[in-house]
Amino acid sequence: MAKLWGGRFDGKNEAWIDAFGASIPFDQKLAKQDITGSLAHVKMLAKTAIISKEEAEQIITGLKAVEKKLIDGELIFSIENEDVHLNIEKYLHEEIGPVAGKLHTARSRNDQVATDMHLYLKETIQEVIEKITLFRQVLVHKAEETIETIMPGYTHLQHAQPISFGHHMMAYYGMLTRDQERFTESIKRVDISPLGSAALAGTTFPIDRQYVADELGFASIYENSLDGVSDRDFILEFLSNASILMMHLSRFCEELILWCSHEFQFIELTDTFSTGSSIMPQKKNPDMAELIRGKTGRVYGNLFGLLTVMKGLPLAYNKDLQEDKEGMFDTAHTILTSLDIMAGMIETMKLNTQRMEESTEKDFSNATELADYLATKGIPFRQAHEIVGKLVLSCTQKGIYLQDVPLEEYQAITPLIKEDIYGTLASKTAIQRRHSFGGTGFDQVAAAIARAKNECMH
Ligand code: ARG
Repeated sequence: MAKLWGGRFDGKNEAWIDAFGASIPFDQKLAKQDITGSLAHVKMLAKTAIISKEEAEQIITGLKAVEKKLIDGELIFSIENEDVHLNIEKYLHEEIGPVAGKLHTARSRNDQVATDMHLYLKETIQEVIEKITLFRQVLVHKAEETIETIMPGYTHLQHAQPISFGHHMMAYYGMLTRDQERFTESIKRVDISPLGSAALAGTTFPIDRQYVADELGFASIYENSLDGVSDRDFILEFLSNASILMMHLSRFCEELILWCSHEFQFIELTDTFSTGSSIMPQKKNPDMAELIRGKTGRVYGNLFGLLTVMKGLPLAYNKDLQEDKEGMFDTAHTILTSLDIMAGMIETMKLNTQRMEESTEKDFSNATELADYLATKGIPFRQAHEIVGKLVLSCTQKGIYLQDVPLEEYQAITPLIKEDIYGTLASKTAIQRRHSFGGTGFDQVAAAIARAKNECMH
């Protein structure tokens, strides 16, 4: 079959080399966007009288017929036609004959592919934003159910201070809110039309770039044709935002995996999100959480892959740019499915509230409460810290906790300590009394949830 660009060639093609250069196995994902872009382009060609109205009508009818075949699953793409643009154009030729050749007037595949990518990402980012919103809603629900569920808060993975489980959920809510903002803010750099940049230098035809951008719903147009065909920042930004999102999901998954372990036993994931072992009958593994943690690697890899592709490229188009696609599609698929899994896992997980609360009672996570207690009685905090530290040491030697120390012993340290110390040392009190804005106090968590509901549930 003759190549659409075959004019200046007389050597024969070799199938294995064509296959190496072809992008159709993966860029067929852009078929819908490619037809949309062509429809807008041909309307502009008629409007500016670059082609006649009749020709434009024939091309539009032909493109719509190709689009219908695409939707009906009747298009068979071929490696010989290299990429999605040439495949669609071949089909257009089959539909309407030689007039199809007028579609590519004042256009190059370079601005065409860039346009397709902008259209694709604009839609995909919207989907990502919707999924993040759904996940944020799940987090808020879970937080609301668990405001008064007590768990140990950690630093260095060591018990630090007791916290509300809802507070922990709302920490992830904060991260996901920023992720969503990042995707939203990136839209304005995706929402730009490169169409009309042509191969690199613009065109001698009297095109109307603004018209075609308006037709496609782009908010603005690239001001420089070289930049228009060479820019892939908008994809890098997507990959980078996706990487940060996956980093958050991965941290969360790491915690879920720990919490499911025999050592923690804080939660149980439903069977739907777990798998068994083919040899050990007792196993219930948090595979989905592990996979999200694992898939974070490929998303980072996709970002670094494209950054590396871009770093030495001279202006304007280079075939290297064809490598921008698979990582982008893979990333989009990975983050969309990971968000679904996360939402399902968090919504359905069961909490072992008793176990979590008890683990804050057999530890020293109330040591700060005792130091604060002494400080409010007038002992300088540094000195209070020292006193409590010594006491913790002697308790560990005796195998007891601060709440087990008899009042006489406390009063031997300082008569400032009264009976009310025992109430102060309780985990619930420790949480309840943290009224500082953004802290784990039950009232603070409830207020954070109320603010969040305002933001993400309308
Ligand atoms: N398949 C190509 C890509 O994805 C389309 C642009 C080809 N342009 C060219 N001059 N070879 O980048």
